[in-house]
Amino acid sequence: MSIVIKDATDIAGMRIAGRLASEVLDYITPFVVAGVTTGELDRLCHEYMVNVQGTIPAPLNYCPPGYTPYPKAICTSVNDVICHGIPGDKVLKNEDVVNLDITVIKDGYHGDTSRMFCIGTPKPFAKRLNDITYECMWLGIDQIKPGAHLGDIGFVIQQHAEKAGYSVVREFCGHGIGKVFHEDPQVLHYGRPGTLTELKEGMIFTVEPMINAGRREIKEMPDGWTIKTRDRKLSAQWEHTVLVTATGYEVLTVSAGSPPPPDFITNKSA
Ligand code: MF3
Ligand code: CO
Ligand code: CO
Repeated sequence: MSIVIKDATDIAGMRIAGRLASEVLDYITPFVVAGVTTGELDRLCHEYMVNVQGTIPAPLNYCPPGYTPYPKAICTSVNDVICHGIPGDKVLKNEDVVNLDITVIKDGYHGDTSRMFCIGTPKPFAKRLNDITYECMWLGIDQIKPGAHLGDIGFVIQQHAEKAGYSVVREFCGHGIGKVFHEDPQVLHYGRPGTLTELKEGMIFTVEPMINAGRREIKEMPDGWTIKTRDRKLSAQWEHTVLVTATGYEVLTVSAGSPPPPDFITNKSA
């Protein structure tokens, strides 16, 4: 296996796919309220992708080795669901927290991004987990530049999560992305500085830490997709698709409604 270095044509295509994935999240945001079902959110996103954007929902019928085809257009992971929650009849209620994970394909290129949403006013412990996880993602992203290593990303994410009393999910990771949904490299959200693959200009991969409020162990549900925390405590995740540039990084999954980066990114002196 080897890492694809993207050329200017690829990068232009990935910028478009990334923006479109983020725009699905912008579009769906006002619908993420108490009383809506996860299935309705899926239906709305699916329609928007196909009919408004002319994109293909990459999850639909996605079938990695050992899996059954994924049956829906998006992933909706509520409360103790870590990832790959399948949309259905579940009604969102006040104080739920839900990750919506969107992957679109446009002109053959994939854009992959997710955000956390709170229904009503979140419990302080849920908001803290969401905020720390968001910071974890951005701390990881901020390591990215040619000459840095994948282990640098995992290290800062793990440090920040564990300092807060949380744990990092090991079984799922970020991934290279382009014309293929999941390609090399794997981007672990834990690790040691200076280890693993050296980053090079033109690599594109996701950073998508899954952080658990309690223990890191997971449990797979009988549907073959849904992953929950074994201790049934909350889990949170944020995801961006990122390009390694000559001097650092460019986040590709940005749109008008993207939440601003944390202050420690915005206030950096160059
Ligand atoms: N979007 C997820 C990721 O970030 C993958 C979902 S696979 C699916 O890698 F089939 F569940 F949609
Ligand atoms: Co991803
Ligand atoms: Co995703």
